[in-house]
Amino acid sequence: MRHVLSLMDLTNDECRDVVTAAEKFKQRLAAGDRPQLLAGHTVGLLFEKPSLRTRVSFESLTSQLGGNSLFLGEDVGFGKREPLCDFMPILTSYLDLLVIRAKSHAMVEQAVDFSQCPVVNGLTDVAHPCQAFADVLTMKEISGDNFGDCHLAYVGDANNVAYSLALICAKLGLKFSIAAPQGYQFEDAFVAGLDEQAGGGFVRQTDNVSQAIDGANFIYTDVWTSMGQEAESKQRLKDFADYQVNDGLMKLAADNAMFLHCLPARRGEEVTAEVIDSDRSAIVQQANNRLHAQKGLVLWLLGLAQR
Ligand code: CP
Ligand code: NVA
Repeated sequence: MRHVLSLMDLTNDECRDVVTAAEKFKQRLAAGDRPQLLAGHTVGLLFEKPSLRTRVSFESLTSQLGGNSLFLGEDVGFGKREPLCDFMPILTSYLDLLVIRAKSHAMVEQAVDFSQCPVVNGLTDVAHPCQAFADVLTMKEISGDNFGDCHLAYVGDANNVAYSLALICAKLGLKFSIAAPQGYQFEDAFVAGLDEQAGGGFVRQTDNVSQAIDGANFIYTDVWTSMGQEAESKQRLKDFADYQVNDGLMKLAADNAMFLHCLPARRGEEVTAEVIDSDRSAIVQQANNRLHAQKGLVLWLLGLAQR
């Protein structure tokens, strides 16, 4: 049984197939076609952290496909009320698919060993694969025929979102650069390994913002303090002060470079209002694409994407 905890779980071709499925079902929805491919199916949404986009887009796509979704919060006691070897087989025996948003990626890795249905990572401390699929779908829509030449520059923390972005760019042969302060960067070996796999693209890391954004078509950032890191917030505000995406930074970027952010954003911290609210910002299209990208992923994972 396949699970998607990280993009490492998919081959390069499988990543492409998910994006293709996302595009296809997005077009079909726009044409008013809502194939009932999940009729009689139940999708569980087990969330240990807050969410707007991930939760609602999964609920909505399930409903569009004729299935039922079941939101499960803290009260079910994931990893707390009973051992995973009891919790997981019982929960997943009721379901056709389980989406987990968890504090600990390591715990999700343990949990899937006991799963009776496919599991999708809806964000952990390590990875956010669903976000990355929506992001490349958005880049593809914006760049059209030039998609294969796209360069995404990420400015900020080498966090869960950056990790999945680096992976998807390497897997699709795109160019990815990250500017992060020392102490908040990826392991060098991770970057070198991805760079080797990146085909016509590359994966690079620096602490120099101008270097990272040079020639980029997309400038991406995420919060400096992720969920669960609140105690480090004061220190992070200081450490990331030179990494804000503002008008000055956007002026250094290519004229047609667009701004992306996974959201939620903190205006005045990692990005200014003048950038995120400008006509160079694609955040609404990007967030909307969460639904289409995850629909592609779910249908691919359940073997229904060819219908
Ligand atoms: N980007 C994202 O995953 O948003 P939510 O935390 O609102 O789900
Ligand atoms: N890096 C952020 C992403 C939120 C969607 C976090 O983990 O809180």
